[in-house]
Amino acid sequence: MNKTIGVIGGGNMGTALLSGLIRRRTVAASRVMVSDADTKKLRAVNRTLRVKTTTCNCEAAGQSVVLLAVKPQQMEPVLKEIRSSLAHKPLLISIAAGISTGWIEKKIGAKIPVIRVMPNTPALVGKGISAIARGRYASAAHEKLALEIFRSVGETVVVSEKSIDAVTAVSGSGPAYFFFLMEQMIASGKRLGLRPELVRALVLATAEGAAQLALQSNDDPAVLRQKVTSKGGTTEAALKVLEKKKAGQAVQQAILAAARRAKQLGK
Ligand SMILES: NC(=O)c1ccc[n+]([C@@H]2O[C@H](COP(=O)([O-])OP(=O)(O)OC[C@H]3O[C@@H](n4cnc5c(N)ncnc54)[C@H](OP(=O)(O)O)[C@@H]3O)[C@@H](O)[C@H]2O)c1
Repeated sequence: MNKTIGVIGGGNMGTALLSGLIRRRTVAASRVMVSDADTKKLRAVNRTLRVKTTTCNCEAAGQSVVLLAVKPQQMEPVLKEIRSSLAHKPLLISIAAGISTGWIEKKIGAKIPVIRVMPNTPALVGKGISAIARGRYASAAHEKLALEIFRSVGETVVVSEKSIDAVTAVSGSGPAYFFFLMEQMIASGKRLGLRPELVRALVLATAEGAAQLALQSNDDPAVLRQKVTSKGGTTEAALKVLEKKKAGQAVQQAILAAARRAKQLGK
């Protein structure tokens, strides 16, 4: 890609994306400028990724693609700070949960191309999934550029912006639900007397295997579950408890709560 990229916010997501972009050679490190309030983080990112760094967000905003990777609560002051540095009409890409493209356009006060993306933390290992939604002034070419950027950290899907809060609840926060299940499985294995390293290996390989099986099979997860549940067997005994405790309902309520929170963050 022959664009220059400015990243505002060199935290978890900002650096995960950058490492993917540079590792996959989507962009050369010399074409990237990262700004952050924290100079320690900037030093670390400069050391590991060899990108240019600055504490001045306006410098990062001067690039041709500007990735907004600060927390949702930090977006308003950041946009206020950079709005006068956007006369060159860069493509603004925001990954902030709950912040709409319309809100960003309004804060900037100009017809600027904005794309909203909801990535997730497996992006750190190139296994993320990022949902991409176009703002009012973003063209198909801008969308293509955003897809190219986010493909360097995993899969991408294009969605309409009205689906983004739901996507946030399902895949943005999603890794945490699987980690929670892993935690409970590890704790149970330990209660059953298994060594910590052994139970960790069993749980992680099972999680990866289940995901791969679901990906490679034509069956729905519900069918795959039925296939490992023989009548009167061990899996059936476990699933009966989950059903009795209404675990399925609890998971669904949790995801609905995440979507409500994403909506609230945007207000
Ligand atoms: N983590 C996820 O799973 C995930 C998934 C999807 C989307 N997102 C979105 O990604 C965004 C970043 O999340 P994150 O987890 O990467 O957060 P993070 O690690 O806290 O990164 C944000 C970075 O921005 C810096 N910062 C704060 N104020 C700033 C300012 N005024 N100017 C420049 N930099 C500033 C922070 O420094 P300090 O630490 O010093 O404040 C921090 O280094 C959020 O909007 C979040 O909604 C995250």
